[in-house]
Amino acid sequence: MSEPPAPGVRVRLWDLPTRLIHWSLVALVAFSWWSAEEGEMELHRYSGYAVLALLVFRLYWGFAGSSTARFAGFVKGPAAVAAHLRSFAQRGPSDIAGHNPLGALSVLALLAALIAQVGFGLFAVDVDGLESGPLSHLVDFDTGRVFAELHETSFNVLLVLIGLHLAAIAFYLVYKRDNLVRPMVTGWRTFSGPAPAVRFAPAWRILVGVVLAAAAAWAVARGFRF
Ligand code: HEM
Ligand code: HEM
Repeated sequence: MSEPPAPGVRVRLWDLPTRLIHWSLVALVAFSWWSAEEGEMELHRYSGYAVLALLVFRLYWGFAGSSTARFAGFVKGPAAVAAHLRSFAQRGPSDIAGHNPLGALSVLALLAALIAQVGFGLFAVDVDGLESGPLSHLVDFDTGRVFAELHETSFNVLLVLIGLHLAAIAFYLVYKRDNLVRPMVTGWRTFSGPAPAVRFAPAWRILVGVVLAAAAAWAVARGFRF
């Protein structure tokens, strides 16, 4: 006879901006890769500006967003990471409302790798000087080539981090029986214990973030030449 389902309480965990940013980043990283491989450099740059805008918004949201999106809410010290590692001795989902202390490190690493990827691309110049990032006029040709090399290297680093990210999600699903993907899609998650408190940011803050992100991407795309 199968066991009756454990009683659970449904909690809204991730706000819409956090989820939209995540799935847009997934689509745009794939599109950036494809466009670079196909030599569609104009599309590649537009895709990069969109990633830049999303990153600016995500950094802002890390300070002004809902409690599960704030860096202060999920970035913890080594003791919390060690305690989380010890919890692997037991299978079953955790009751943490948001990123766990170990996942927080991968969130920071992914965001840093994406910032590096975009940052290097802005200064990159291709081998014949025909295709370049919008800030490449600030550096000489050889330095632009170095940025292009860094842009290629950081992409490989990004691919490794994405591989680890997916492996960790699969591990939580199979070993901890914890489906992290569904909440990142729907926003909602079921907890077996008491409902954790999540504070959601007011909608006007989204507007401020959109203006900030759009202004930053527009200024960078113009190479700060107004
Ligand atoms: C998530 C964002 C991005 C990803 C994943 C990405 C990925 C790539 C990849 C895989 C290449 C080919 C590297 C090679 O094999 O030579 C490339 C080339 C290039 N990217 Fe990006 N890129 C991104 C953002 C940007 C941005 C924001 C810009 C500038 C606006 C940019 C400008 C360039 C340029 C100029 C090249 C050609 C460099 C060369 O031919 O040596 N990229 N990018
Ligand atoms: C280009 C590929 C990807 C990148 C760059 C990426 C990046 C990120 C980032 C930055 C976060 C932190 C979210 C935030 O707080 O804003 C995150 C979380 C997350 N990602 Fe991805 N991701 C990628 C692919 C995927 C895919 C394909 C899946 C699903 C199979 C996925 C599932 C998740 C989940 C479930 C979380 C939340 C983890 C948790 O509960 O702590 N990601 N990802």
